[in-house]
Amino acid sequence: MTKYQSPIGMRDLLSEDFKYFNKIEKVCREIAGFYGFQRIEPPILEQSLLFEKGTGQGTEIVQKQMFSLRTKGGDCLTLRPEYTPSIIRAYFEHGMESLPKPVKLWYFGPCFRHEKPQSGRYRQFYQFGFEFLGSESWIIDAQTIQLSYNILKALEFKNLIIKVNSIGDSQCCPYYKKVLMSYLRSYRNSICADCVKRLKLNPLRILDCKNEKCQEIIRGGAPQILDHLCKDCNDHFKKVLESLDTLKIPYTLDPYLVRGLDYYTRTVFEISTEKEGEGGQGTLVGGGRYDNLAKILGGKEVPACGCASGVGRIANLLKEKSKGDSKTTSKVFLAQVGELAKKKSLKLFEDFRKQKIKVVETLHKDSLSLQLKLANKAGVKYVLIMGQKEALEEKIIIRDMKSGKQKTVALARVIKEIKRKTGK
Ligand code: HAM
Repeated sequence: MTKYQSPIGMRDLLSEDFKYFNKIEKVCREIAGFYGFQRIEPPILEQSLLFEKGTGQGTEIVQKQMFSLRTKGGDCLTLRPEYTPSIIRAYFEHGMESLPKPVKLWYFGPCFRHEKPQSGRYRQFYQFGFEFLGSESWIIDAQTIQLSYNILKALEFKNLIIKVNSIGDSQCCPYYKKVLMSYLRSYRNSICADCVKRLKLNPLRILDCKNEKCQEIIRGGAPQILDHLCKDCNDHFKKVLESLDTLKIPYTLDPYLVRGLDYYTRTVFEISTEKEGEGGQGTLVGGGRYDNLAKILGGKEVPACGCASGVGRIANLLKEKSKGDSKTTSKVFLAQVGELAKKKSLKLFEDFRKQKIKVVETLHKDSLSLQLKLANKAGVKYVLIMGQKEALEEKIIIRDMKSGKQKTVALARVIKEIKRKTGK
């Protein structure tokens, strides 16, 4: 053991993790293919200003959580805390304005936030996300929620809670902020110190403050944005909800859901599992519409909508659910005794690989009883045994681990025989 450990809130992903990460990525890839998304992977480091402006000065992320550095050349760069501002940057940088709309991009990779590490909350974590760029249609909002829901369903999550809200646009949101501010002013002495600051910076942030007292004040009767939406935002949101009804996607209206990022307009949503708050993983997917982000970043207006999800959170839940599942996907174990058998097994293992049949081997081991013990532990259905005699006669034994029955076959026939037995 050396004195070095992985940094706080950052961890090694081991093969056990990749089992779930790969599964999640596969589902994302399939959904992306079906919906016509193209993959994108921006650099992990971006100019700090991109997030300061994009993610927003009023957010926890920019105020407290960014890993930023100054390069030897004097540039201020930040390890991305989220992808969305990078996606807008890339959209303009690669002239995607000229592509048919909406442009659909998806991603899967690491993000960094200097947060207090806890269950499902890391400083280096992985996000997958899907972004629709260039359409203001309500159907896109519905599709974003549908796609997020479908991914979690494909991963066999059952009790999902979808919270939806609309936070209006530049027409109606500023007025709502005023109404909210006047309600909160009378609680100035009761809200937390952060919220007192938020009152000036962006009172919407108070709605998702984690402080219990602040939540009590909000949920105890703060004005709701849904009562203050302008006609366009109201119509837009109504159509999103009607689409969800048509799709039979179960959702709850949460009039205080605003999400922790500054760029949202109109629809916002979050999906979690029922276990939330009981040592669960918190929000699994979050997203919404962000029609103003491109303009905030100095580009032309690009109406957009998207979502992102914490891969580690989903992986933790999948891991928990699969506890007790069988240990191996392989059905065959190759055991050998003696030098000649070892050499012939090396070649046989290669033949199996070419046929795409997964075989577990411990060619470096000599003891047959140990190899059989390992085969048992791996939970395989068949063990192939090649001893000195079989090696000389170009034969091999196939043992059925369940019945204990075994038969000897010609080495040249063993792959065919295993294919027949395993239905390959
Ligand atoms: P976000 O809510 O900040 O939104 O993050 C999205 C998801 O990333 C969360 O729901 C959670 O699952 C995961 N996540 C966030 N922070 C951590 C962490 N410290 N550890 C583990 N998982 C975490 C965004 O990032 C937006 N860019 C989403 C979006 C895309 N909106 C529109 N397009």
